[in-house]
Amino acid sequence: MNGVAYEHEVEPRLLLVHYLREVLNLTGTMVGCNTSNCGACTVLLDDESVKSCTMLAVQADGQSITTVQGLAENGDWHPMQTAFHENHGLQCGYCTPGMILASVSLLNENPDPSEEEIRESLEGNYCRCTGYENIIKSVQQAAGQTS
Ligand code: FES
Ligand code: FES
Repeated sequence: MNGVAYEHEVEPRLLLVHYLREVLNLTGTMVGCNTSNCGACTVLLDDESVKSCTMLAVQADGQSITTVQGLAENGDWHPMQTAFHENHGLQCGYCTPGMILASVSLLNENPDPSEEEIRESLEGNYCRCTGYENIIKSVQQAAGQTS
């Protein structure tokens, strides 16, 4: 988890998002719908984005997980975090951890996505505030497509 190994015995029914929030106290991962629709709970599982309300904690056994708290390095924000900040890619911030991790996953797979590809890739992440335009600009900046 964010570069640290943890070992816990958990109920087989415990969802990964609840393990993150309630056992590890990593509350940067948000719960929106709990039904795999909104994307607020998105984390990286071995560098691919997953909705952590759709999997059990035990399914993550032995795998590498990154939450929003694990993106910064040596006190420096991840370029995607900087881009969201500079482009006002957030308002209330509720969707933002999931949106940023989904965007990081996109650029891991496709470092130079078109606007359409960005929109398609983020269609599983809902934002009730921004209207999405500044989120798209943020991803484009992180991809080096704008200054
Ligand atoms: S809380 Fe997981 S997708 Fe909404
Ligand atoms: S910034 Fe409020 S839900 Fe996206």
